[in-house]
Amino acid sequence: MATQTIVILDFGSQYTQLIARRIREQSVFSVVLPCTTPLAEIQAHQPIGLILSGGPSSVYDADAPAADPRILSLPLPMLGICYGLHFIVHNLGGKVLSAPRREYGPAEVRIEDGATPLFAGLPSTLQVWMSHGDEAAQLPPGFHGAAVTANALAAIANPERRIWAVQFHPEVHHTPLGPQLIRNFVFNICGAAGDWTPAHFIESTVASIREKVGKGHVICGLSGGVDSSVAAVLVHRAIGSQLTCIFVNNGVLRKNEFQNVQTNLRDKLGLNIVAVDASQRFLTRLDGVTDPEVKRKRIGAEFIAVFEEEASRIAREAGGVDWLVQGTLYPDVIESSSVKGPSQTIKSHHNVGGLPAKMKLKLIEPLRDLFKDEVRRIGRDLQMPEDVLGRQPFPGPGLAVRILGEVTPQRVALLQEADEIVVSEIKAAGLYNSIWQSFAVLLPVMSVGVMGDQRTYAYTAAIRAVHSEDGMTADWVPLPYEVLKRISARIVNEVRGINRVVYDITSKPPGTIEWE
Ligand code: XMP
Repeated sequence: MATQTIVILDFGSQYTQLIARRIREQSVFSVVLPCTTPLAEIQAHQPIGLILSGGPSSVYDADAPAADPRILSLPLPMLGICYGLHFIVHNLGGKVLSAPRREYGPAEVRIEDGATPLFAGLPSTLQVWMSHGDEAAQLPPGFHGAAVTANALAAIANPERRIWAVQFHPEVHHTPLGPQLIRNFVFNICGAAGDWTPAHFIESTVASIREKVGKGHVICGLSGGVDSSVAAVLVHRAIGSQLTCIFVNNGVLRKNEFQNVQTNLRDKLGLNIVAVDASQRFLTRLDGVTDPEVKRKRIGAEFIAVFEEEASRIAREAGGVDWLVQGTLYPDVIESSSVKGPSQTIKSHHNVGGLPAKMKLKLIEPLRDLFKDEVRRIGRDLQMPEDVLGRQPFPGPGLAVRILGEVTPQRVALLQEADEIVVSEIKAAGLYNSIWQSFAVLLPVMSVGVMGDQRTYAYTAAIRAVHSEDGMTADWVPLPYEVLKRISARIVNEVRGINRVVYDITSKPPGTIEWE
């Protein structure tokens, strides 16, 4: 039997993938298609329901998205959201007007037609998130208002035609009961069974990668992080030895990381990995450099150079390379496509371009529609080690931005030891998975200490632990004193060269997560 599919037509809203996520959370499959997708192609998915997303346009804009109005005649239940509502009203004979008052932000909705199946089980007033300039001024024949805000119509219904639409965004976090509304649409209205699983995602992704790649050869840069690892394992599952992964030791990885990644992905999961120890090259390029941005740029440039050399070698051996796998997630897609005003570059990683443009490779981004927690779930289904899936984020320039001032081999070795102690103690205390990032920073600050009867004069380590949802803002974590005490004692006792430990109690803003 074909998979039950909800088709989401995207009119350009930044929230469209959130709708897909809300549906996936209900174990129901959905595909997001551009609103310009031809009717026949939409029908080919044999959808059990259709959702029309929000979007930034007005239906009267000259460049309003050119969706085929005949979609509204498909014999399917439909849910319009924001712009989707305007599209429905405009194309079925109603009127959309620029609202006298733009609504943006939280609003309270009062449900007027309690019999609307969309609102089943919901209270009569809802907190919702609004973001619109236009509104329905006159409803098309057969429609009635089902809910209102103080300023405007909030929902419309045409039960005969099985079309419903809401002016607010049920998919966003700021509409707390939104998931229930989406559940109502998916289960009560569309009749979904809710039997879709991550295994189905893996199966269909593997099939589509196979079809796309054919006999081509694919390369993938591994970072040791969750995203590139899961992407690589998925592609490996699809095409096996046609995939070669490149993992570069840039000399500023965590202790044993170069080996661990190889053990986890090559030895345990069978990936074909070219592991390149280029530490010496990187450390030479970092020699004498103290400026954080120069460190980043040099590491970035060196990485591209090493990667290109390896890719060319692989291409010679494999008779050409056609594709590059990237572990891009949905939040990265949003980040790079969102319209931003001129903003100051705080750290250049937010603006760094990727490899493919230069290398003329086609991209495979199997995780492009997913959020981090979904990637972890997929990874679990792929039987990847928890050690890989549970990892905290680690910056590309690695320990180089955690060694303040000059990066020397001796300082790298000191920080690797201290960092390993922080991570292992936080894991031992059962805190690792609930913390966004926890690590040590090496400060080029020498202070006097005493060990046994000996005077010491050595470096300082700062401990950092933060909670965050996406790295954009962060709160410092009040680690238990007992844990801090063990970390401090172990670092000073075990790492010869560090004799003082301090704790960073700065949130972001005003601080940043990394010290450089
Ligand atoms: P900041 O320090 O800007 O960090 O508060 C926010 C998040 O980004 C990570 N980070 C980086 N990641 N290259 C990366 O790939 C970088 O240059 C870089 N700098 C910071 C940081 O670890 C945190 O998760």
